[in-house]
Amino acid sequence: MSTAISPTAYNYKVVRQFAIMTVVWGILGMGLGVFIASQLVWPQLNLDLPWTSFGRLRPLHTNLVIFAFGGCALFATSYYVVQRTCQTRLISDSLAAFTFWGWQAVIVGALITLPLGYTTTKEYAELEWPIAILLAIVWVTYGVVFFGTIVKRKTKHIYVGNWFYGAFIVVTAMLHIVNHMSLPVSLFKSYSAYSGATDAMIQWWYGHNAVGFFLTTGFLGMMYYFVPKQAERPIYSYRLSIVHFWALITLYIWAGPHHLHYTALPDWAQSLGMAMSIILLAPSWGGMINGMMTLSGAWHKLRTDPILRFLVVSLAFYGMSTFEGPMMAIKTVNSLSHYTDWTVGHVHAGALGWVAMISIGALYHLIPKVYGREQMHSIGLINAHFWLATIGTVLYIASMWVNGITQGLMWRAINDDGTLTYSFVEALQASHPGFMVRALGGAFFASGMLLMAYNVYRTVRASKPAEAEAAAQIAVVGAH
Ligand code: HEM
Ligand code: HEM
Repeated sequence: MSTAISPTAYNYKVVRQFAIMTVVWGILGMGLGVFIASQLVWPQLNLDLPWTSFGRLRPLHTNLVIFAFGGCALFATSYYVVQRTCQTRLISDSLAAFTFWGWQAVIVGALITLPLGYTTTKEYAELEWPIAILLAIVWVTYGVVFFGTIVKRKTKHIYVGNWFYGAFIVVTAMLHIVNHMSLPVSLFKSYSAYSGATDAMIQWWYGHNAVGFFLTTGFLGMMYYFVPKQAERPIYSYRLSIVHFWALITLYIWAGPHHLHYTALPDWAQSLGMAMSIILLAPSWGGMINGMMTLSGAWHKLRTDPILRFLVVSLAFYGMSTFEGPMMAIKTVNSLSHYTDWTVGHVHAGALGWVAMISIGALYHLIPKVYGREQMHSIGLINAHFWLATIGTVLYIASMWVNGITQGLMWRAINDDGTLTYSFVEALQASHPGFMVRALGGAFFASGMLLMAYNVYRTVRASKPAEAEAAAQIAVVGAH
């Protein structure tokens, strides 16, 4: 083991920047979620303007919550984790700063162009080619900073959390570049390089793996660092974590066709996607169990530690949505669930319950550390946030299950003479109460984010960032 003294502390500045922007974009993205949920209850909120119509704001919501909120959380935590587990500073401060400002520029680009109606029309890949190119450049730079830091690590092993972050970075680059291959015809319009069923297949290979690698693998990296840290216990099984890693990344990539059941996609591809999705349950639950069991002997901490509660409940929702997903991938189940609110409920079980809850827990752990404070300003407020988030998520997904099954059954109901029993509008009317409950659940979740913003503000106001860096330096020296 080296006795060298690290010349510099960690780069916490970029971690702080991304952490703060996670909260800012979280509030905007979820606030917009509540707004579009309210538009489905009160259509007058479309305001009769193209820029504020549901069709344009919906992709803005998904871009803000996935790439702005989720993305900033992933940048913040991966930069924090890679430095601490490799016991070395990021390889380049200026490249790290470029990723921060470049990423914010991509988000601002989305904020401007999506309401104006500029879109590739591919879900989760809507950004037109100039912004998509900037995104690719920022992402490759992110890879250079992350892997460069791994290369200059002072530890022998590469901690398992970094494997997950690393796979998320590499695969996201591959998905983004392949799916965005297109021919620009003007500054804000391009046409996909693929056509017909091939285009659909590439798009959902991208779409599903955006879920698998952006919304899952990156956040599993978060889990492998923050759950053991907050529980003050080693990860339950290092061996399971390695099996989990390889199984997850080998299987996810095949499951995309479950988004295209009963379409023009060849039947064999649909069945393959279904089979791979069912097998995917195993590594998903392996990872969930590894995280949960890390609490062995520390369960009592859940009584007093709301940060740990965020982390553990996120794993419970992860387990739930990765059970639900394989079920929905079965063709006969999908014939009922597809196009209905059931899918939207499944999405938010993962998005709110898993992605947002684990990010929030990780940030509450990390923010005091990078701002030189013992802990967050108020533990009581974290607890209140936890309950708002949990109740909000449950209201959201329960209302969408009811709506989804109602819609699916009403759409397929037929009379003896073969005509439809219900018109589409009747199914829409039946969905109205569920839309109200969903908007309420969303408002719960978003108001929890406001509590977080206040708590973060009070923590930061009394912060000593220089001390945080000095403490990190001592930690580095002490570790050798
Ligand atoms: C083993 C894990 C999972 C499987 C097999 C799975 C499967 C599915 C299936 C079958 C659909 C419905 C496709 C359709 O009818 O159109 C779907 C939709 C979706 N799932 Fe999952 N899911 C899994 C986990 C997750 C997780 C953890 C998240 C979020 C973090 C998530 C996010 C989504 C999204 C965003 C969609 C909607 C895509 C769209 O139509 O826009 N899934 N998933
Ligand atoms: C306050 C919280 C939130 C509310 C109220 C909300 C609301 C909504 C609404 C109303 C839709 C459109 C559903 C439809 O087309 O019928 C939607 C779609 C979506 N939201 Fe959210 N959302 C919230 C948070 C999030 C978060 C945190 C994420 C991701 C991390 C997320 C990811 C998505 C995705 C991927 C879709 C597209 C679903 C699909 O195509 O099936 N949302 N959201």
